[in-house]
Amino acid sequence: MHAWLCEQPTGVDALVWKELPTPRPGPGEVLIEIKAASLNFPDLLIVQNLYQTKPPLPFVPGSEYAGVVVEVGSEVKKIKVGQNVACLSGTGGFATHVIAAEDQCMQLPEGFGHVDAAAFIMTYATSWHALMDRAALKPGETVLVLGAAGGVGTAAIQIAKAEGAKVIAAASTDEKCELCKSIGADVTINYTTHSVPTAFRDALKAATNGKGPDVVYDPVGGEFAEPTFRSIAWKGRYLVVGFAGGPIPSLPLNLPLLKGASIVGVFWGGFAKTEPEANERMMGELVKLYGQGKIKPVIDSTLPLSELKNAYAQMGTRSVKGKLVMVN
Ligand SMILES: NC(=O)c1ccc[n+]([C@@H]2O[C@H](COP(=O)([O-])OP(=O)(O)OC[C@H]3O[C@@H](n4cnc5c(N)ncnc54)[C@H](OP(=O)(O)O)[C@@H]3O)[C@@H](O)[C@H]2O)c1
Repeated sequence: MHAWLCEQPTGVDALVWKELPTPRPGPGEVLIEIKAASLNFPDLLIVQNLYQTKPPLPFVPGSEYAGVVVEVGSEVKKIKVGQNVACLSGTGGFATHVIAAEDQCMQLPEGFGHVDAAAFIMTYATSWHALMDRAALKPGETVLVLGAAGGVGTAAIQIAKAEGAKVIAAASTDEKCELCKSIGADVTINYTTHSVPTAFRDALKAATNGKGPDVVYDPVGGEFAEPTFRSIAWKGRYLVVGFAGGPIPSLPLNLPLLKGASIVGVFWGGFAKTEPEANERMMGELVKLYGQGKIKPVIDSTLPLSELKNAYAQMGTRSVKGKLVMVN
């Protein structure tokens, strides 16, 4: 097998393409021939030693991938050789082959292609858990999605629309705003041209008849968090999803008091670990929505795995719309 190896987590430049012995699956494990692997934001952080998880060195980055099972270990109960699967295991995806635990694999139904499947679990699971479990979104409510043209952002737009909400999508360029419109956003705000907090708040006011959004989905953090929270509706729910923008913002605690509003943490990985049955039900629901055509990953482009460093550069410079997927 071949893989991109992180021998020192000093950044993307240090990744090396290497030939390695193809591993054999142990008890409860399967060997997957990888067909597609998507980039998620943590993939960028993990190779710089900036992610909360620090795998032992050396490791193969690539949190999420899809492919065909080519060998199964003992005690594997459901998965057979030849089965198409998607998997989110945190590492291992930027390679030709990977070993995964059977219970980490999602079996793909007929018609669920590898590229879509490799870009599915992280984004849709996070956004569904955030909007439906944590914010208890109701039809007719208004959701503001920040960083709306990114991976989790595009998934959040589609899920909110599928659940009957009105969506305001905020992103940094007109092209990104156009993409958000094309996948269902009702209103878009370019926060580069509305970078002064008052201008951004005025745009939110205009988009919500002065009421403010009921739910804010925030995977960016940074300077927009406080002005956005100041604009939230009465009994609003502010979903803390991530900090792609860098600094972790803080909020004066009088703000939730004044709006009867909540700051709601979202940690899908923790949810999947502590509530595995609820997570499995949710994944079943998401696969059903995919089959009905109500959600579909937005693929910016597919690139050969040899172009991984180029893909990382695109993600790091905010030029990706939706998801980048590496293919073998
Ligand atoms: N809580 C959870 O369970 C969970 C699960 C998955 C992901 N996350 C987090 O969610 C965030 C987004 O993940 P993602 O995979 O959707 O990433 P992504 O596809 O790269 O999208 C991130 C978006 O953030 C915006 N952004 C603002 N400042 C940025 C900067 N300095 N660098 C890069 N992007 C910047 C960009 O949109 P604009 O250019 O339009 O601003 C970009 O589209 C990450 O922080 C990730 O760790 C959290």
